[in-house]
Amino acid sequence: MTSTLTGPSTPASWNITTMNPAEAPWHLLLLADPSRERIKRYLPHSTCFAARQTAQFTPSGLGALIGVCVLTPEGDGQHKWELINMAVSTAWQRNGIGSALLHRAIRDMRQRGVRQLEVGTGSFGDQLLFYQRIGFRVTDIERDFFLQNYTTPLWERGVQHKDMLKLTLDL
Ligand SMILES: CC(C)(COP(=O)(O)OP(=O)(O)OC[C@H]1O[C@@H](n2cnc3c(N)ncnc32)[C@H](O)[C@@H]1OP(=O)(O)O)[C@@H](O)C(=O)NCCC(=O)NCCS
Repeated sequence: MTSTLTGPSTPASWNITTMNPAEAPWHLLLLADPSRERIKRYLPHSTCFAARQTAQFTPSGLGALIGVCVLTPEGDGQHKWELINMAVSTAWQRNGIGSALLHRAIRDMRQRGVRQLEVGTGSFGDQLLFYQRIGFRVTDIERDFFLQNYTTPLWERGVQHKDMLKLTLDL
C-alpha cells in the first residue's frame, strides 16, 4: 500500500511492508514500550510490519523506517495473537500511518485464519481512542499492571498510568 501524505512533511509517500523483527529499530520500539528487557523477550518470536518513507531511500535501498507494528502468537497462534508493540515516529503521527499498519496486520492475521487480536493499553488517553476507532473492544482490566511491570512511572497529561485495559478485536 502506498499513500501520499499531506501535512508539514509533504510532499512524501510511504508504504507498508513485512520486516524481519531483528531489524526493528529500537527508537521506535521504545516509544511504545519503555522496557528493553520485555522487548528483547518478545521480539525474536514476533511478526513485524514496517512503514517506510519511500521518498527518502536509505543505503540499503529501502526507505527510512517511520513506523513499526509487532505481533506475537498466543499459544500455538492458531486462535489468538497479541499486538505487542506499535509506534510511528513522532513527526509522522496522525497521518494515518498507524491505522494503515494495523489494518495490514489485521489482513495478515485473517489470512492465517486467526480469530482474535488482543492489545493491552492504558485505561485512558490517545492510544485507547486509536484502538477503539479501529474496532477493538474492552474485554478485561489488569489492575496495577503499569506499577508492577515498569520501573519508570508512565505519566500522560499529568495522570499516572496504573491499570492496563485488555482490548480485543474479533477477526
Ligand atoms: C498510537 C500511534 C501508533 C498511532 O499512530 P498514528 O500514525 O498517529 O495513527 P493514525 O494517524 O492512523 O490515527 C490517529 C488517531 O489516533 C488517535 N491519536 C493517536 N495519537 C494521538 C495524539 N497524539 N493525539 C490525539 N489523538 C491521537 C486519534 O484518534 C487520531 O485520529 P485523528 O488524527 O483523526 O484525531 C502513535 O501515536 C504512536 O506511535 N504513539 C506513541 C507510541 C504508542 O503509544 N504506541 C501504542 C502503545 S499501546
